[in-house]
Amino acid sequence: MILKRKDLLGLEELAAEEILGILDVAEQFRNIFDRPVRKVPIMRGRTVVNLFFEPSTRTRISFELAEKRLSADIVNFSASTSSLKKGETLRDTAENIEAMKVDMIIMRHGSPGSAAYLARVLKSSVINAGDGAHEHPTQGLLDMMTMRQRLGNLAGRNVTIIGDIAHSRVARSNIWGLTKLGAQVTVCGPPTMMPPDVRRLGVRVEYDLRRAVDGADVLNILRVQLERQARSVFPSNREYHRMFGVTEEVVRLLKPECFIMHPGPMNRDVEISSEVADGPRQVILEQVTNGVAVRMAIIYLLSGGDPGSLRGETD
Ligand code: CP
Repeated sequence: MILKRKDLLGLEELAAEEILGILDVAEQFRNIFDRPVRKVPIMRGRTVVNLFFEPSTRTRISFELAEKRLSADIVNFSASTSSLKKGETLRDTAENIEAMKVDMIIMRHGSPGSAAYLARVLKSSVINAGDGAHEHPTQGLLDMMTMRQRLGNLAGRNVTIIGDIAHSRVARSNIWGLTKLGAQVTVCGPPTMMPPDVRRLGVRVEYDLRRAVDGADVLNILRVQLERQARSVFPSNREYHRMFGVTEEVVRLLKPECFIMHPGPMNRDVEISSEVADGPRQVILEQVTNGVAVRMAIIYLLSGGDPGSLRGETD
């Protein structure tokens, strides 16, 4: 069994073998995307609820597509039209949904630890689709899947994560996952966007972008999270772009095979120039495609799926 757990809350709690096992199963599901019918009947009769309390394009649609491609029944919860508006708590809301006999809840929420809290009070499996600035485990997994497709083994590879490290759940999940697989991670951004204890996560810290990209195999560029910053932590978007934006000038410093990732949504001409965002080095839409496969793998494995029995469905 690859995942001996009820929930997926973060990559901090996963072992390297579990991460690699998920990525292998995701590659099997990725095979079916090139077929005329991109669907397998293996979650028929199971019910998944998508509980999104924060805006999302990629993660919400990706989970929904993953569920549909596994033939699960789906319910999409809309916080803005729910009884939360009448003062119902998150716990009461979730317990009422669970009482309708569902198997799995996917949740995005603005509060760090909210997915872990639900996992404690519910019997259903909970998948964290992003909890505040804490973790975004499926994003970390899809990023690693994309890196592994291009680089093979990630051990010893140099991954540079650039941007708002302090506010980024994507950075945290990437750091946990990549370091477990033996990659060397460098984080780079303004000092005001760097968590004080970040070196304890086993990363190199660079405040100079040009030094940070030297020798990198991958750049993973983070979105400047304007909505999470109570006060401005850099003077202006123009200033940020000048100091930490990945532009054609930065790309000229990279190794020829180095490629560029971004989890989306992008702030064009803030953390990444439009030329780079649309240029030949970027793999941003490959990340999005892989996201559906990773989410299929997680849903399948947490439901007790056996990868050995998948062969007939995905070959
Ligand atoms: N990468 C990501 O989480 O994007 P969304 O906010 O659109 O889901």
